[in-house]
Amino acid sequence: MPSFPFSPIDKLIINADRALRTLAAGSQMTCERHSPARHLQEVDLSEAERKKSAALMRVNHTGEVCAQALYQGQSLAARLPDVRAEMEKAAKEEIDHLVWCQERIDSLGSHTSYLNPLWYGLSFAIGASAGLVSDKVSLGFVAATEDQVCKHLQDHLQELPQGDVKSRAVVEQMLEDEARHATMALDAGGYNFPTPVKLLMTLVSKVMTTASYRV
Ligand SMILES: [Fe+2]
Ligand SMILES: [Fe+2]
Repeated sequence: MPSFPFSPIDKLIINADRALRTLAAGSQMTCERHSPARHLQEVDLSEAERKKSAALMRVNHTGEVCAQALYQGQSLAARLPDVRAEMEKAAKEEIDHLVWCQERIDSLGSHTSYLNPLWYGLSFAIGASAGLVSDKVSLGFVAATEDQVCKHLQDHLQELPQGDVKSRAVVEQMLEDEARHATMALDAGGYNFPTPVKLLMTLVSKVMTTASYRV
């Protein structure tokens, strides 16, 4: 940690750097944990299976791009004095997820979503706005988002080809991590959003996942 506070210009540069590294083709981020897929043998997939896996992992990658933006926006605006260390740990785990998804998409011979800059900007704005309202709302938004992500990951475990053990291993570890992030945010005092807000979030995430699946 620096021994001096960052100026607004410093923060702007740090966030711009983080956004560019998140969105760059071939992730420029460094992960702390190796991919769970690392020691698993690649199984021959049919062309249809490969395309299906790539599309699902592209959706997951977009989710991780949004997580980066959400945590970045939140770190700028929210105070979170009691849980800052835990939030930073969660944000680092999101970098692991981002890199693992990127690696898997590369192995499957596909590309990340072309719409990621759009989702990054939107998620950053939401994260910062929630943080400006209050820490309780900010943490509540993290919890609700992580819940959404867990649902997608559970669906993906049903949809991924059984033979694609590498993608499945990545998704299983992500599911475990995201569930922990949701619990942490709620335990830290996050607001449990009412059902209409959660339904709206489900709708927005449906648009995002459908678009990322295709492009
Ligand atoms: Fe994640
Ligand atoms: Fe997460």
